[in-house]
Amino acid sequence: MMTGSSLGGVLADIESRSTWMPRAASTVAHEVDDIYSFILWLCVLFFVGIVGVTVYFAWKYRRQSEDQRTSPIHHSTKLELAWSILPTILLLVMFYWGFKVWMKMGVPPDDTLDVRVTARQWTWQFDYPREGFSGANELVVPVGKAVKLTMTSEDVLHSFFVPEFRIKKDVIPKRYSVVWFEAPETGVFNVFCTEYCGKDHSRMITRVRVVSQEDYQKWVATEGMGDAFAKMPLSEKGKIYFNRFGCGQCHSLDGSANTGPALNGKYGTMEQCADGTEIKVDDNYIRDSIENPMSVIVKGYQPKMPSFKGKIKTEQITAIIEYLKSIGK
Ligand code: CUA
Repeated sequence: MMTGSSLGGVLADIESRSTWMPRAASTVAHEVDDIYSFILWLCVLFFVGIVGVTVYFAWKYRRQSEDQRTSPIHHSTKLELAWSILPTILLLVMFYWGFKVWMKMGVPPDDTLDVRVTARQWTWQFDYPREGFSGANELVVPVGKAVKLTMTSEDVLHSFFVPEFRIKKDVIPKRYSVVWFEAPETGVFNVFCTEYCGKDHSRMITRVRVVSQEDYQKWVATEGMGDAFAKMPLSEKGKIYFNRFGCGQCHSLDGSANTGPALNGKYGTMEQCADGTEIKVDDNYIRDSIENPMSVIVKGYQPKMPSFKGKIKTEQITAIIEYLKSIGK
């Protein structure tokens, strides 16, 4: 939706060819950029004007001799009205324009694809109620379709931000917040958490993939328990679940240190616990660690992991166990 005819549009157009702004990849992005550009350039204009006149007058009316007296200054009604009314009008233009687009961004259209978003330290989870599946860790949406996100947090304050879409909304515990967008072109865009939420806040990153309608159906069919997915070996399904539930955010698979213990080559070994005991990494231990992560804390780690009880199905846990079994040192 280019409003290239407006002043802001022309300026935004110039900017879009520079490095000022990320790509504008949603239907409201250009409108946001137009207002931003309008306000920015208006401020530049006034800044240059005011500083320019200040410097010029300072030079022009400088003291030129020792006995020079300051001339008595009277007020000018005309000038005072001008500098009161003109900025008021400009302010109202900014407000009206901004309010209009803000309302548009705040109210989703009637026909949307609804996705539930759950934020927790430090992952994003996307559930698709209409498609009938849960637990994606990437947001996949069809191109040219309005998408409504209903978001909540399980722990602390997070914020959902897609720079290319120009959308940003706080994700709040014990409350639902809504944001919507429509992407007119396909592409892959970063999703950032933009509210400081703890140690790994800066790593609370995922992606939104805007794909064609056919690719979206394909994705729903595979990731959403379709035929191709059903035939997949258990360990491969486990890999998909491992990624979908964001396990890799805290558990590395190459032995490197992270928030949680590395999980490669762990299956069948003995784990040292914080209380000095040992426990065998077997099916029941992994299951328990996913559902009741506080029951056993591995030596050298903090009790940080959220419980996945009720969010993960038994068959998904089984697949993850098989996946962990399949990856060696
Ligand atoms: Cu979640 Cu910052």
